[in-house]
Amino acid sequence: MRLILVGFGTVGRGAAECLIAATPEFVRRGLEARVVAVVDPVVGSVARPAGLDLERLLRMADDGEPLDRHPDAESVDDPGALFDADVADVLVELTPTNLTTGEPGLGHVRAALAAGLHVATTNKGPIALAYPELEGMARAAGVALRFEGTVMSGTPVLSLCEQGLSGAGLRGVRGVLNGTCNFMLSRMEEGAGYDDALEEAQRHGYAEADPSGDVDGWDAAAKALILANCVLGADLRLDDVERRGIGDITAEAVRAALDAGETWRLVARVERGDNGWRAAVRPEMVPRSSPLGALTGPGNMLVFETDALGEVVISGPGAGRRATGHAVLADLLAIAGHGAG
Ligand code: HSE
Repeated sequence: MRLILVGFGTVGRGAAECLIAATPEFVRRGLEARVVAVVDPVVGSVARPAGLDLERLLRMADDGEPLDRHPDAESVDDPGALFDADVADVLVELTPTNLTTGEPGLGHVRAALAAGLHVATTNKGPIALAYPELEGMARAAGVALRFEGTVMSGTPVLSLCEQGLSGAGLRGVRGVLNGTCNFMLSRMEEGAGYDDALEEAQRHGYAEADPSGDVDGWDAAAKALILANCVLGADLRLDDVERRGIGDITAEAVRAALDAGETWRLVARVERGDNGWRAAVRPEMVPRSSPLGALTGPGNMLVFETDALGEVVISGPGAGRRATGHAVLADLLAIAGHGAG
């Protein structure tokens, strides 16, 4: 598989680390994943058809050295020219999420699918805003559109739904979908202030480039929307998701909940109402002894209600460099099974 990595920030570098670590797994499966271009507006853009040295690029990016100093490589003046089936097989789109326009990710994904490239992305914007269009383009081109990392980072929620829960009769889902908010609420329970907790979440790489996307509930709303539309077959828009963030949860509210044996969690729900599917994200007090109450730090959890199995619970990391990088790796292995590589 010839890969183009677009976005070489926290997630891009996490994906590169996972790709390096997974080299023996690729070899074991008789596959080769070769990164032929890395495109990033901050650290630089570079291409090398024979494959770039990812360890070297990671060192260069961490040291602030422009990537186009990679030996034997060309700098990239027109990234759009890379979206070509003669150049690459897969676009790995890892630019920051924009839930208003979807850009720049949406343009990248459209261009790649139009050129017949498979796409693996962790970017919630294009999937939340334009899934039906993109899915139609992928189907028409006979390529894969994978986006495991958009919900619960590397915790395999979407593949669980696609495979194990297929045909189980999904009736709804609820849970915690934002690692930053869960981390902040956990730290506030330990006595940290709101601003310090947010700053810590940013330092760990959990928060979005613009963290208001986390604390105002937009990130969880986008993930609930992706579950609603891509898994449950709803046809909702982001504005349809009822949304409240954690900005109003004061230190006093956190203490009062603890005194009552409860804890605040930012809970996302997708359920069937009288007029079809509805989705909501809001802070809820839950018993500390409940599965959601016991979920601390950047952890995420979803409880699926199914006809065949009753409740099915999945829990794991919801954010972070390596956790999100793993989602890219899992998507690439799935794409290899789809015929690339
Ligand atoms: N900012 C997100 C979170 C990252 O905190 O959950 C993963 O989507």
